[in-house]
Amino acid sequence: MQRIAVLVSGAGSNLAALLDANADTLGGRIVLVLSDRDGAGALALAAGAGVPAAVVPPADHADRRAWDAAVLAAVEAVEPDLVVLAGFARILGPTFPRRFPTLNVHPSLLPAFPGAHAVAEALAWGVRLTGCTVHFVDEQVDHGPVVAQEAVPIEPGDTAERLHARIKAVEHRLLPACVALACAARLVVDGRHVKILPR
Ligand code: GRF
Repeated sequence: MQRIAVLVSGAGSNLAALLDANADTLGGRIVLVLSDRDGAGALALAAGAGVPAAVVPPADHADRRAWDAAVLAAVEAVEPDLVVLAGFARILGPTFPRRFPTLNVHPSLLPAFPGAHAVAEALAWGVRLTGCTVHFVDEQVDHGPVVAQEAVPIEPGDTAERLHARIKAVEHRLLPACVALACAARLVVDGRHVKILPR
C-alpha cells in the first residue's frame, strides 16, 4: 500500500474522489492532507475521513523560501511515495517535484490555458473543446509530462461555473485512475512522455 500526501486549497471535491476510492483499488492510502489556508473545505473532508491534516499558510513564514521549506518538511515527515496536488493554488519550489513524484490535476487540455483561470480563459477564447489534464509536476507551472487527458465540450450558453462543474466530474474519475497507475508503478516518465505499463 503506497503512502499518498494530498495538497489542497479549495473545496476539495478531487480529494473527496480520492477518499471515496477504495484503498485497494487505489493501491494507496492518504496519509496527509496539507492546505495552504485554514478553512479550506478539503480540511473538513480530511477530518471527516480521519486523515491527518496540516495547514501551512504563507503568512506564517518570513518569505517564499521559508514557506517552501515548511511545506517540504511537513510532507517529508509522513514519508509519502506519491504527492497529489488536488486544487493546490500555490506554486511549489523546484525542490519539491525532484524530491517526490508529484501529480497535478488541471482544468484544461494542457498546454492550452495553464494558470489559475483556465476555465474562464477557455470560454473567453471561444474554443469548442476543453477538458482536464493529469500530469507530473516539474519546475514550471502546469508544464510537466502528461499522464492523461479527457476532453469536455463547451455548450452554448455555458458559464464558467457550469463548465467547471462538468470538467470536475471528469477529473473525479481521471485523477483516481492516474493515482492508481502511479501507485501500481505503471507510469514511466521518459522526457516529456509518460508510458503506461500494462497490468
Ligand atoms: C480543479 O478543477 C482542479 O483541476 C484545479 O482546481 C480545482 C480544484 O477543485 N487545479 P476541488 O477543490 O478539488 O473541488
